[in-house]
Amino acid sequence: MNNFTFWNPTKLIFGKDQLQQLKTEVPQYGKKVLLVYGGGSIKRNRLYNQVIELLQEMDTEIFELSGVEPNPRLSTVRKGVDICKSEGIEFILAVGGGSVIDCTKAIAAGAKYDGDPWDLVIKKAEASEALPFGTVLTLAATGSEMNAGSVITNWETQEKHGWGSPAVFPKFSILDPVNTFTVPKDQTVYGIVDIMSHVFEHYFHQEGNTLLQDRMCESLLITVMETAPKLLNDLESYEHRETILYSGTMALNGMLSMGYSGDWATHNIEHAVSAVYDIPHGGGLAILFPNWMKHNLHVNPSRFKQLAVRVFGVNPEGKTDEEAALEGIGKLREFWNSIGAPSRLADYEIDNSKLDVMADKAMVFGEFGNFKKLNHEDVLAIYQASL
Ligand code: NZQ
Ligand code: ZN
Repeated sequence: MNNFTFWNPTKLIFGKDQLQQLKTEVPQYGKKVLLVYGGGSIKRNRLYNQVIELLQEMDTEIFELSGVEPNPRLSTVRKGVDICKSEGIEFILAVGGGSVIDCTKAIAAGAKYDGDPWDLVIKKAEASEALPFGTVLTLAATGSEMNAGSVITNWETQEKHGWGSPAVFPKFSILDPVNTFTVPKDQTVYGIVDIMSHVFEHYFHQEGNTLLQDRMCESLLITVMETAPKLLNDLESYEHRETILYSGTMALNGMLSMGYSGDWATHNIEHAVSAVYDIPHGGGLAILFPNWMKHNLHVNPSRFKQLAVRVFGVNPEGKTDEEAALEGIGKLREFWNSIGAPSRLADYEIDNSKLDVMADKAMVFGEFGNFKKLNHEDVLAIYQASL
């Protein structure tokens, strides 16, 4: 393991009827509150009314920014920053999925920055401070509710980049599985793929002696794979929503990654696809991850074999490490197919006409990936295998 310092200041408030806790949390930060949400799901399931009622009981002055897009856009971040600056907003409340939370993080940091918030995303400037914000999560997927990362799309230039800063940990996040009951089947599947992909991004690293971390990753994957089919047969099961919601947070709040750096190349490759074609993040990952795995299997076959044996139940007897590993990758593809995830770029009507454009976008900050550095050719090969 590498030396490490673990610090995660987000207060996690988990379970049924926990929305009430807004009343103890929000007043600690101010009276002028900007409520940020997406395209209307929280109005349809009435979470919006519950939040507004509670904010009114606290005598807050409420401002609103609605319409945050899936793959949240810089233009919406700019709108939010303008409201914060012109109205003197003291606290931001994000109610939604990862996109709403990511957008809120950029607004919170942008409100304390003199230039364009895009500077923070492309790391031209560092987000050293931010307005305080909290979240009410409505979709299990990204882990954004308990981490300091955010992903923003500049639709004018078709760029999508992740950025982060310790200044943008949420002050608190309220996770009630009931608030995820209305997530439709396809988004539930994308969330499950994203959660599993975060674990894979961790799992493929170059550090030695990560015995406990490996087992933690494997348990998370097994738990999600056992629960996913049951949840998809019963979208309003509290029990299964609870398991997936908790798994999503644990997959990307730093708990799994102490002592090593994960790979994260597949996320970069996917962000370039979403930047050009605006596809759902989890859908893109389902297409790309098994192909990233096949492309990099030669780097450390025994690590892929370990995953295949421990998580996918592959019997290694009489097989080379590569053979067992490939069987495991095949089982991952089968599992994702079985829950209805896409498997080819063609599923989103993406052909080979812009592979080079996407590879250029993925390479914009140079070679990437901690398990295996990828260059332009590697990225193209993975796209080609994904057509
Ligand atoms: O916009 P609304 O109307 O709210 O609808 C959303 C949206 O259409 C809907 N939804 C959310 N909660 C719902 C619901 N519909 C019914 N009932 C509910 N309870 O679901 C759709 C997708 O929402 P979105 O927030 O876009 O999904 P997700 O949470 O998967 O976030 C995806 C974004 O997060 C980024 C992705 O790249 C993508 O931009 N990521 C952020 C990360 C981070 N900050 O750590 C890490 C991830 O790897 C990821 O890259
Ligand atoms: Zn992800």
